[in-house]
Amino acid sequence: MCGIFAYTGSKGKNAATVLMDGLLSLEYRGYDSAGIFLPESGNVKTPGAVTELRKKVPKEFKGKSGIAHLRWATHGEPTEANAHPHSDCTGQIMLVHNGIIENFKELKARLEKTGHIFVSDSDTEILVHLVEEHMKSENDFEKAALAALNEVRGTYGIAMQYKHEPERIIAARMGSPIVLGLGDKEHFIASDPSPILPHTRTVVFLEDGEVAVITPDKHRIFKLDSTGVHRSPENIEWNAEEAQKGGYEHFMLKEIMEGPEVIENTLRGRLVVDKGNAKLGGLESAGAQLENVDRIVVVACGTASYAGLVGEYMLEEHAKIPVEVEIGSEFRYKKPVINEKTAVLAISQSGETLDTLEAVREGKRRGALTLGIVNAVGSTIARETDAGVYNHAGPEISVASTKAFLSQMTVLALLTMFLGRLRGMTQEEGQEIARALKELPAKVQRILDNRQKIEALAKKYIKNRDFLFIGRKYNYPVAYEGAIKLKELSYIHAEGCGAGEMKHGPIAMIDENFPTIAIVTKDSMYEKMISNIHEIKARKGPVIALASEGDSDIAKLVDDCLYVPETIEMLSPILNVVPLQLFAYYFAKEKGLNVDRPRNLAKSVTVE
Ligand code: M6R
Repeated sequence: MCGIFAYTGSKGKNAATVLMDGLLSLEYRGYDSAGIFLPESGNVKTPGAVTELRKKVPKEFKGKSGIAHLRWATHGEPTEANAHPHSDCTGQIMLVHNGIIENFKELKARLEKTGHIFVSDSDTEILVHLVEEHMKSENDFEKAALAALNEVRGTYGIAMQYKHEPERIIAARMGSPIVLGLGDKEHFIASDPSPILPHTRTVVFLEDGEVAVITPDKHRIFKLDSTGVHRSPENIEWNAEEAQKGGYEHFMLKEIMEGPEVIENTLRGRLVVDKGNAKLGGLESAGAQLENVDRIVVVACGTASYAGLVGEYMLEEHAKIPVEVEIGSEFRYKKPVINEKTAVLAISQSGETLDTLEAVREGKRRGALTLGIVNAVGSTIARETDAGVYNHAGPEISVASTKAFLSQMTVLALLTMFLGRLRGMTQEEGQEIARALKELPAKVQRILDNRQKIEALAKKYIKNRDFLFIGRKYNYPVAYEGAIKLKELSYIHAEGCGAGEMKHGPIAMIDENFPTIAIVTKDSMYEKMISNIHEIKARKGPVIALASEGDSDIAKLVDDCLYVPETIEMLSPILNVVPLQLFAYYFAKEKGLNVDRPRNLAKSVTVE
């Protein structure tokens, strides 16, 4: 997720000021690097966010139009060369992009043959050179842009500008949001309305496959096949902060709602359905050492460690490789027995969690291969591990980790296919997992569409001070995750428990004031979970069941029931956690607490 902002006007405003001020309100979308291009003044880029850019932009940097960008790195480290705007060979065409160009490798090879020189590792740079290439035959910026867009695959929200036509800016959308701001003798393009709102509240949202051209006085929208589009402008009532949250009340809800898109982004370009395999380019550098690995030790903290536990079940059952999950804060103190045949796999959204980082360093000291599943590109864990897989989940702002958890489990499923196929997993088994993965975004969406029911349930149980979450096998870590979400956001007592462990202690707590949320979807542990629920009901404990769609019997046994779509057992945690995230969200909201910034916690824990 990156932020783009573009401006063209004839009101005498300095585009540099408009763009820099606007970038500030987009900083939540990315802060690895920033850049600005004004046809009348040039191109300035820097690692870091807007404050760094301000330091670099000279006082005389002025103009009537321009494009600007904040980057959340996906392809390539957060360096100046990889920062946007990207330029063609001549420096005449400039482009900012939010998204991923999937066919960048083949396009780059073709363009290099015709003499194009690339200066960055970014997939975006390919697109601007492609426009340059089409300019040779089309001799028209708009036609060249359209021809190039028709050749790329992937996701994009873009704005591009041609130095010799400074008034005109072209935008396009495919999977990444673009909104046009329609002002009086000025027009805007942005990733969300927040930078536009100080200037105008009249906007038009582009839809996928649409292109827009803005000049100070007008805008035009058309499709990739050039057919015209007429869309009536809307009036935005939100304030800038609400706009950043996409109209949602909190970042946490926005991030939960991004679930389907996040899974798609995590899978993009990695799933080889027909071969029943996964392509994980980031692991290529680990090569032969990875094939020699006979054991994986996952190191992670909090929510990331619960993703690791789900991964343990996936990898052991389907890739037949022994896996242990170690809490980052313990690992380096326990004299772990590891060697060069061990892979120490760090899972971290931020890539900066000190305990996880130190566990990686401990693994290195002991000769292990170190791997990472990290969301923040260029973060310390990403840099210090030997190889890894990025989540591509986009920045997670809310302290409670939600979309990153979905993405971490999705990567672990891909890793299971990748390692499994090296260790005897059949093509058919791989294909079954691949097909089920592809179906997940739509299934998560179905759960999200039903969120009012979860909100009502949170309201019903709002007076309770204790909650138990139970699950088994793949869903035992999900029970832990449901509990951590509720306690960190609502400051009440919540415990996760493997349902089979109830009889060894926790069941003593159960009475009519101690509700249990039981994950009882149709899988290999269903009958056992039903028995566990009976044991709780026999002690008058209220039970909320998280069950599979169509399971009407369960409703007769429990007090309340939430339904989720079915999937294969190993992927069920990716669906089952979503209602628990929503339950914790609505519970904390109902209590009037600061959902995005719970007390005593930080988003990135860089202390021991
Ligand atoms: O950035 P990381 O994934 O390494 O963070 C690990 C934990 O601090 C994090 O998951 C924490 O448990 C969250 N607050 C849970 O919502």
